[in-house]
Amino acid sequence: MVDVGALWHPFSDMGAIESGGEFVITRGEGVRVFDDGGRSYLDATAGLWFANVGHGRTELADAAAAQLRKIAHFSTFGDYTNDVTNALAERLAALAPVPGSKVFLTSGGSDSIDTAAKIARRYWVERGEPSRTIMIGRQKAYHGMHYAGTSLGGLAPNTDGYGVLVPETAHVAWDDADDLRASIERLGPDNVAGFFCEPVLGAGGVYPPPVGYLEAARKICADYEVLFVADEVITGYGRIGGAWFASTRFGLDPDMVISAKGLSSGYAPVGAVLVAPAVAEPFFRPGAGVWFRHGYTYSGHAMCAAVALANLELIEREGLLQEAARLETTLARTLSPLAGHDAVREVRCGTGALAAVQLEAPADAPMLVRLLREEGVATRAVGAGGIQISPAFVMTDAEVDELAAAIGRAVDRL
Ligand SMILES: Cc1ncc(COP(=O)(O)O)c(C=O)c1O
Repeated sequence: MVDVGALWHPFSDMGAIESGGEFVITRGEGVRVFDDGGRSYLDATAGLWFANVGHGRTELADAAAAQLRKIAHFSTFGDYTNDVTNALAERLAALAPVPGSKVFLTSGGSDSIDTAAKIARRYWVERGEPSRTIMIGRQKAYHGMHYAGTSLGGLAPNTDGYGVLVPETAHVAWDDADDLRASIERLGPDNVAGFFCEPVLGAGGVYPPPVGYLEAARKICADYEVLFVADEVITGYGRIGGAWFASTRFGLDPDMVISAKGLSSGYAPVGAVLVAPAVAEPFFRPGAGVWFRHGYTYSGHAMCAAVALANLELIEREGLLQEAARLETTLARTLSPLAGHDAVREVRCGTGALAAVQLEAPADAPMLVRLLREEGVATRAVGAGGIQISPAFVMTDAEVDELAAAIGRAVDRL
């Protein structure tokens, strides 16, 4: 048995790791990471969908160090704030798909989902419609692992085994807007608070939206005054390609946008909920005395804010939204031929710098991940037997070729 030490790995079978060992990354540079033996791997996934500007960017390390020398953080509870936190909030309000949005800062995606869930329910209480408590998610969805997010998720392996989750949640088909309408009708529109929607389903296996789905779902929510909450933890800050947010690309006019990951490219743990003015209004009304008793010690963390600001600046300076759009095309062109392989059922791609190679035999995915490591590629399984491709926006077309060739060789060896 391999001695793997004290770390309890998230999303893992620790018994298997006890016998199989760990894969220890010690360094990253651009689109490559290095293990503890010094071996280099092409990073197919940008870590867990976050290292959008690539690894080892000294600008971001410098921004963190400079802020840590001034002050790491104080608080944003009550009337406290940090100068750099305010600057980040203004920047995000300017980028938000809905002008005039307010910005609630968190430590990551799961925090952001649960924050949005509370804002949604509380909004309806303040609007005098307290019966609107039900939150709807989609099958195949992943909304993080806090309780509201776990309950909204549509992947049974993630929800089974914890007893009753948040009861007032419901699920609809991932690809059929009519099912959303039918579900709202069945539940009673007066009981539904919000609909949570990943523009491209990510951890569920990288499923781009069927043509017209997002626009139709958005319209249905508007028809019934159900809040439309876009979970852009993966698609946000450029991964959708050519725009800061999928909500902008698809004209979704969201009531809330959930974000994290690409906000700092993973250089600091930070998330944000961008709240449209109409939803924020009851909480901001002077003299109304509406307390929102929610927030985290690290909401608006000063070092995280400094890193996020430097990251957004870098994305803009290097034109990385356009690079993500380039990757949308390159990934589709380069990976699609893999679908002709006997072991591959399909390649899902074409919306953002995102793709999945879906195996015919889902049980082979862990083996393919191991073979890919031998071929010098770090990736992981997503959904039911898919391989995740979500590179940093700085991956060149030649490196995409290298990635596709390695996948081809690994699939041949299955
Ligand atoms: C769409 C989506 N929402 C929420 C989350 C949760 O984010 P975090 O892991 O930062 O809590 C993730 C994480 O992968 C995600 O992909």
